[in-house]
Amino acid sequence: MLSLGNWNLPCFALADQSRNRNFVGRDHILNSMDDYLLPQETSLPADMNSIRSFAICGESGMGKTDLAIEYAYSRRSQFGAVFWLHAGSAAELMTDFCQIPGYLGLANTYSHPTPESRRKLAKAWLNNPKKSVDWGVNCRWLLIFDNADDLDVIADYIPRGGNGSILITSRSYAARDYFFEDGPGIDLDPLSTGEATALLQRLVLGADGRLSRTDQKALMKIASLSGGVPGDITRIAESIQHRSVPLRECADMFARDMARLAQVRVYTFDISRMWI
Ligand SMILES: Nc1ncnc2c1ncn2[C@@H]1O[C@H](COP(=O)(O)OP(=O)(O)OP(=O)(O)O)[C@@H](O)[C@H]1O
Ligand SMILES: [Mg+2]
Repeated sequence: MLSLGNWNLPCFALADQSRNRNFVGRDHILNSMDDYLLPQETSLPADMNSIRSFAICGESGMGKTDLAIEYAYSRRSQFGAVFWLHAGSAAELMTDFCQIPGYLGLANTYSHPTPESRRKLAKAWLNNPKKSVDWGVNCRWLLIFDNADDLDVIADYIPRGGNGSILITSRSYAARDYFFEDGPGIDLDPLSTGEATALLQRLVLGADGRLSRTDQKALMKIASLSGGVPGDITRIAESIQHRSVPLRECADMFARDMARLAQVRVYTFDISRMWI
C-alpha cells in the first residue's frame, strides 16, 4: 500500500468482500450513483467538503450488497479511502468502525487500547480527513454501511462533515431520507430477463460457456419465469447443476412447478427454495 506522508493512503479496506466475477447488469444504476457519490465538475468548492450519500434499498436477495461491492471495486480510484462496515448489528458495526484508525495507520492497540478511543479517532479523521499529520489537503473517503436494516444502529456512525460519500444498503425503504433530507437512493428492481438469462448462463456454464440455441431458449424460459431476483437465480442455478438433466428438461420441470405454485397462489419467491 502506498504511504503518503504518515497515513496509509490510498486505503481500500473492503474486509471480506470480494468482487463477484459473475456480476451482471446494473450499469445505469452504477453510473447514476456517480452523480450522487462523486463530486461533479460543476460542484462549488464548498460542496467538495460536504457529505454525499446514496441508499440502495430492496428486499432480501435483490442484490444490494453485490451492487455496493461492485461500486466500491469499480470506483476505487476515485477515493483516497474506502471502508466497508457490516451494519447488520451494533456489535459488528462497532468492530468494523474501530478498525478504521488501524487501517489508516493512525493508531494501534498501544496508542488507543479501548474501542471507544479508536471510535473517536475514526470519527475525528472522517470529519477532517487529512492525508498526513501536517499535510492540509483532505482526501475523499467512501463509507459503506452494508445490511443496515435497523437504521438506528448506524445513526451514531454517520459523519456529518468531512469530504466523504456514504453508501447504505438496507431492506428498509426509509434509508434514503432517514439521515439526509431528500437523500438520493434507489429501490432496487429484479434483473431484466436478458440479465437474468446471462447470470444463469454464467452460473451454470461459467463465463466462457457456450450454449446451443435450444439451451439458450431453455435458460431464457427459466429466467423469465424466475422473477429476476438475483438471490433466487443463484439458488435456481445451483439446483440445475445438482439435477444434471438437460437444460430443456429443467426448463419444462420449472415451468410445471411454477404453474402448480400459481394454482395454490404461492409467490414466485418460493420457487427457488423448492428448487434447491
Ligand atoms: N447483479 C448481480 N449479478 C450477479 N449476481 C448477483 C447480482 N446481484 C446479486 N447477485 C447474487 O445474488 C445473491 C444475493 O445478492 P445480495 O447478497 O447482494 O442481496 P441483498 O439484497 O444484499 O440481500 P440481503 O438483504 O439478504 O442482504 C448473492 O449470491 C449475489 O452474489
Ligand atoms: Mg445484503
